[in-house]
Amino acid sequence: MKVYITRRIPEPGIEMIRKEHEVEINPYDRVLTREELLQAVKGKDGILCLLTDKIDAEVFDAAGPQLKVVSNYAVGYDNIDVKEATKRGIVVTNTPGVLTETTADLAWALILATARRIVEADKFTRAGKYEGWAPMLFLGQDVYGKTLGIIGMGRIGQAVARRAKGFNMKVLYNDIRRIPEEIEKELNATFVSLDELLEQSDFVSLHTYLSPETYHLINEERLRKMKKTAYLINTSRGPVVDESALVRALKEGWIAGAGLDVYEFEPKLVPGLAECENAVLLPHIASASVETRTKMATMAAENLLAVLAGKMPPNPVNPEVLKK
Ligand code: DGY
Repeated sequence: MKVYITRRIPEPGIEMIRKEHEVEINPYDRVLTREELLQAVKGKDGILCLLTDKIDAEVFDAAGPQLKVVSNYAVGYDNIDVKEATKRGIVVTNTPGVLTETTADLAWALILATARRIVEADKFTRAGKYEGWAPMLFLGQDVYGKTLGIIGMGRIGQAVARRAKGFNMKVLYNDIRRIPEEIEKELNATFVSLDELLEQSDFVSLHTYLSPETYHLINEERLRKMKKTAYLINTSRGPVVDESALVRALKEGWIAGAGLDVYEFEPKLVPGLAECENAVLLPHIASASVETRTKMATMAAENLLAVLAGKMPPNPVNPEVLKK
């Protein structure tokens, strides 16, 4: 069968698919333009895509009725019109689990980097401005013993909470539902309302999916509820935060700082954000370790191969397509 891969991924995943099917890969080191994508998927039975590809009815039409599977190289799948895929009998899959710990590590890197002003201090030192130890140089905030608020207590939120134990932190969380009591106990995490979480936390870390309900969940009103000394950390999806409101919050001191790996209009930043010294800005690298990206590649390949072999894939987003 014919498979299209929309961007080069680690080789082990590509090899697995090549052994069984005819594979074509985006030849460029960049995201395909819409026209290129529509052209490339023509006649393909499977597409392995990234979160940077918008996969919708137009892409399904361009591919043709033989398209059976869209395997997303990501755990989040807000880039895919799953409802439309289900209607057409196309299986959508994702890569949950394998990137949990790597993403939690990065959320922690942002917590520490923002609170201790690591990036600012690094730039200062490289610029030759360091003239010796000084009592008031780069004063930040302590992390140890503080309160961590986690919004979205799924796999990644829980992994972030687990790491907080080493920092003797109080952990608050909010989600659409409570996690089982034994996990709350294990993590020493307390379920609170969103308002309480925002008002009490020193670090607010976002781990929700992007959905109509979580779009702009962190808006001006909620940013104003946070402590002036608090930090906002986002490793989930950019549009969960109203980024223009965040820029005002950073400039006007409603909060102390932000650590972001994702952006509302990715890869663009809203005007003013890049100038905020109290923000640490990363290019969506939460899952970017060699080990994790390789596991994501083999997992995405396994998912795709299973569907092409007429089997239930390990990680279906819309399993109902195959249960019919
Ligand atoms: C995901 O998988 O959804 C991340 O954002 C990218 O690894």
